[in-house]
Amino acid sequence: MDSLTGKAAFVTGAASGIGLGITEALVAKGARVMMADIDVDELARVSDRLRAEGADVATAIVDVSLREDQQRAADQMVRAFGGVDILINNAGVGGGGPFERWNDKGWDWTVGVNLMSVIYGFDIFGRIMAQQGAGHIVSTASIAGMMPLDSSAYSATKFGVVAVSESLREELAPKGVGVSLLCPGFVNTNIIHSHRHLPERFGENLSDGDEVPVDDAALERIKTISDLIRTGHDPSFVGDLVCDGILNNHPYIFTDREHEPTIRARFEGILAAYERL
Ligand SMILES: NC(=O)c1ccc[n+]([C@@H]2O[C@H](COP(=O)([O-])OP(=O)(O)OC[C@H]3O[C@@H](n4cnc5c(N)ncnc54)[C@H](O)[C@@H]3O)[C@@H](O)[C@H]2O)c1
Repeated sequence: MDSLTGKAAFVTGAASGIGLGITEALVAKGARVMMADIDVDELARVSDRLRAEGADVATAIVDVSLREDQQRAADQMVRAFGGVDILINNAGVGGGGPFERWNDKGWDWTVGVNLMSVIYGFDIFGRIMAQQGAGHIVSTASIAGMMPLDSSAYSATKFGVVAVSESLREELAPKGVGVSLLCPGFVNTNIIHSHRHLPERFGENLSDGDEVPVDDAALERIKTISDLIRTGHDPSFVGDLVCDGILNNHPYIFTDREHEPTIRARFEGILAAYERL
């Protein structure tokens, strides 16, 4: 893509954090954005602010884990903007409990919002782009999609996003559609409070076994991750990196080198298994 000026972008999780940072960066480069989110009030608040600043933004209330919501939003997008040039599959939650405390609802929520949403996004918006013969799709995975972090559910969904994006980058290239993976390190957002928008159909009880004590080491790890997020990158920095990634069709967009040694060690450990053959 040569320029972002006038391009029509659909951004999920646009009411907060990284999605808002990407929206602001796209708007600053002249793109028109359909901001999609489940948080009705926050979406109205931030979109009103952006409009007052002169941005060309519209909104869609969407639960990204529901195919019908994404389909409705895509129809709305085509009516409003005449097509879709950029999809940012970004909405996500820090869901999933530790071993022995998780339950199926927690897994369903995390897999639905973090992974199925990306699959629906590719399927619905990717088809429109393929028919147009042009477009670009960025999906927000995480460093946790390159090396397992504390939550097995969260990491499983992010590894899934990596796999889907890497496969579809090959498949969609001949159709004129670019695909990038955003793998942020720590970014200062509201992800620690992900449960604030838990869809009602999941109920509230996302973890079992309250009688299983969470050990001190686990509590310490949670505190460390909260601190790292609070002191992480500004989302506007990530937004600029994403714009650059779209314009250059970068396969991977990292935010820093902090986790490079751990990722390198993981791949070297895997490759070392060949030495035993
Ligand atoms: N913050 C970090 O350090 C970090 C690091 C790596 C990856 N990520 C990823 O970045 C993405 C954005 O998260 P963030 O950190 O900006 O968090 P955030 O909580 O600030 O923003 C997430 C947004 O997604 C929305 N959302 C939640 N569930 C939804 C649903 N079912 N349908 C539609 N919208 C929904 C929320 O309302 C919110 O506006 C996620 O995919 C997350 O996994 C974050």
